[in-house]
Amino acid sequence: MIESRKSLFEGIIIGRKKLSDNIYHVEIELNKEFSSYKYGNFVMLHLKEESRPLLPRPFSIFKAKERVLELIFKVVGLATNLLATRPLPYSVKLWGPLGNSFPDKKDMFCIAGGLGLVPLYESIIKGRYKKVFVGFKNKDEVYFLRSLLDKGALISTDDGSYGEKGFITEFFYQCIINEKDKVTVVACGPRGFLKRLWEIEREVKNIEIYGSFETHMACGFGVCLGCAIETPKGMVKVCSDGPVFKLKDIFGE
Ligand SMILES: Cc1cc2nc3c(=O)[nH]c(=O)nc-3n(C[C@H](O)[C@H](O)[C@H](O)COP(=O)(O)OP(=O)(O)OC[C@H]3O[C@@H](n4cnc5c(N)ncnc54)[C@H](O)[C@@H]3O)c2cc1C
Ligand code: FES
Repeated sequence: MIESRKSLFEGIIIGRKKLSDNIYHVEIELNKEFSSYKYGNFVMLHLKEESRPLLPRPFSIFKAKERVLELIFKVVGLATNLLATRPLPYSVKLWGPLGNSFPDKKDMFCIAGGLGLVPLYESIIKGRYKKVFVGFKNKDEVYFLRSLLDKGALISTDDGSYGEKGFITEFFYQCIINEKDKVTVVACGPRGFLKRLWEIEREVKNIEIYGSFETHMACGFGVCLGCAIETPKGMVKVCSDGPVFKLKDIFGE
């Protein structure tokens, strides 16, 4: 059963833009207004015109206003390939907003790796963070560059093809070791990126990092257990207990 905050929507993909080699932005017109959402929430998207994949896929909410929802995705497999190539208009079904959200505190730092930027982008643009760090693999993945630069974000690429050269986690580390006050950090990116941030948190001590985690999901609202992962405190459901967790709750003390 879908809880009250979440609604089921019929949608039509009315716009699609290629942002880089394999990253796309889509606009989905919904059959009704999208209810209020928080940074970090996601939707489950079902490709109702296809016989496969049977299961819906989770995507972070990039933006939503009135009856238009915007998503950004990377082509990695069947569903994302279809989303990138099917002729428009293209009908989908979705439900959301789902999951918890990032904390909202004063003077937070924000760090995003690659597509981890999607759920954090709007809050960066609204100036919610004291410092912003964004890392990409290479210059082809550097989307929305100007607006990030306007917000004073430190940008790096792994190969140095844009901005600073190196992993963004290491630029974050260099900055955070000099912080005197306790800092809350919000983070989104691949698991290896979050794991490195956890190593930094353990070393630096005066920071608390909240990260958004990704798993395979089937329902998105706590029923199927498809997203359950083991933590030092027992099993958690990433969709309904998360996707945002304190790193220490996932990786351990
Ligand atoms: C809360 C949440 C928010 C997400 N937000 C976004 C987003 O904004 N943009 C975006 O591009 N993607 C996002 N993802 C990931 C997205 O759901 C997957 O990329 C998508 O389901 C892939 O579907 P597919 O059919 O194209 O690939 P599949 O054919 O299902 O898989 C292709 C490959 O990717 C791996 N894979 C697929 N999903 C995951 C996953 N969740 N974790 C680890 N490996 C996976 C598979 O094991 C396989 O190797 C999010 C995931 C979660 C849980
Ligand atoms: S995806 Fe079904 S319980 Fe999380």
